[in-house]
Amino acid sequence: MSLIQLLDLPELGDERGSLVAIEELKTIPFQIKRVYYIYGTQEKVARGFHAHKKLQQLAICVAGKCKMILDDGTQREEVWLDSPNKAVLIGNLWHEMHDFSQDCVLLVLASEPYDEADYIRDYQEFLRVVKL
Ligand code: TYD
Repeated sequence: MSLIQLLDLPELGDERGSLVAIEELKTIPFQIKRVYYIYGTQEKVARGFHAHKKLQQLAICVAGKCKMILDDGTQREEVWLDSPNKAVLIGNLWHEMHDFSQDCVLLVLASEPYDEADYIRDYQEFLRVVKL
């Protein structure tokens, strides 16, 4: 089974342009307690390199593009986030974001407030957790 769970966000476009609406527990499978976005990422910089114990997240490049790598400790897959109506569920997977375009704005919807204790930042620890 693929690790890449993509959501095709409905585009409510008309002749004026496009609009995407996201509703918790309807468009996406969790309640949104936090929203953050990453932009101005410098060339050759990669981000992420962690997993979460409990947090659920959905990522969308609302402008530009970047490559999301998802890893469950057994397999590793990648997907380009290159459209404002293409969203990927991160779940509890190890994730890395690479190859940000200069104009990239990566929007992330999160199910919990920020909590550093929920992070697994060490890949070996992630492997231990998923193989338990
Ligand atoms: P981090 O999650 O490590 O970023 P990335 O996964 O993109 O590499 O977060 C970077 C810094 O920002 C870190 O010091 C924690 C802080 N931060 C918050 O304070 N609140 C948040 O909601 C997030 C996501 C990060």
